[in-house]
Amino acid sequence: MGDSGNKGRCGCCTSILTLGLAALSIWLYLRTSNPKCSIQTLYLPSLDRTLNLTTDPTLNLTLRLDNPNQAKGIKYDPLIVTVYDFPNKSSVIGNILMPGFYQGHKKKATKPGQGTANTTVALRAVSENGTGVFWVDMATSVKFKIMFWYTKKHKIRVGGDVVVNASGVKVDHKVIRLKSMAPKMGSFCVVVVVEALVNFLVFNLLNFW
Ligand SMILES: *[C@@H]1O[C@H](CO)[C@@H](O)[C@H](O)[C@H]1NC(C)=O
Ligand SMILES: *[C@@H]1O[C@H](CO)[C@@H](O)[C@H](O)[C@H]1NC(C)=O
Ligand SMILES: *[C@@H]1O[C@H](CO)[C@@H](O)[C@H](O)[C@H]1NC(C)=O
Ligand SMILES: *[C@@H]1O[C@H](CO)[C@@H](O)[C@H](O)[C@H]1NC(C)=O
Repeated sequence: MGDSGNKGRCGCCTSILTLGLAALSIWLYLRTSNPKCSIQTLYLPSLDRTLNLTTDPTLNLTLRLDNPNQAKGIKYDPLIVTVYDFPNKSSVIGNILMPGFYQGHKKKATKPGQGTANTTVALRAVSENGTGVFWVDMATSVKFKIMFWYTKKHKIRVGGDVVVNASGVKVDHKVIRLKSMAPKMGSFCVVVVVEALVNFLVFNLLNFW
């Protein structure tokens, strides 16, 4: 009787260890990171002092999106980029809509887009020497693909200020920092998985001892 009891306890230790390792690997596997987003180029010919195109509504922008995940794809909904006149977002210069797409793991994408600028707002936002500090905002929803399954959609909204020079082009190489409004889905999975394991362990321990 004593023998079999010891055996049971040892077997239990092993299963606790195994389950712990399993929980850790599941957590590492399900953990997701949001895409990294930055503005590569921004161009408003209406602001170019040498061109005299003050009514040209062209608003060109290139977005760069990196999927930092080892083994997860990202499915993007259409992306909406909004260019504001000042960091306080007092008026909108223009919007740029980009189609959604799928991005494989560890892939980088460069997406050019074109919109219509309100040149009145744009010209009002630059100083005498032609420079200005705009605010650029990107909103979309993403789903992560893990093997054959997609996670729930979650919203992403990021923004940052962009310095524009007297030629109407972006001058800095600042990366727009990602600030997600939604809670990280990764942690939800972990909580659920860990809880399930804890329940299972407690149930087993009660059965043994
Ligand atoms: C703006 O982008 C469009 C398409 O992406 C391109 O055809 C056009 O030449 C660009 N305009 C300027 C002024 O760079
Ligand atoms: C936003 O900032 C600009 C420049 O700093 C200023 O002229 C404007 O009045 C501000 N708008 C609002 C609504 O605060
Ligand atoms: C540009 O913005 C100004 C001020 O916000 C607005 O009064 C005007 O109607 C806009 N022009 C266009 C073409 O949308
Ligand atoms: C342009 O003017 C702004 C504000 O008036 C100033 O902060 C900036 O340093 C000036 N830039 C140049 C290149 O003179």
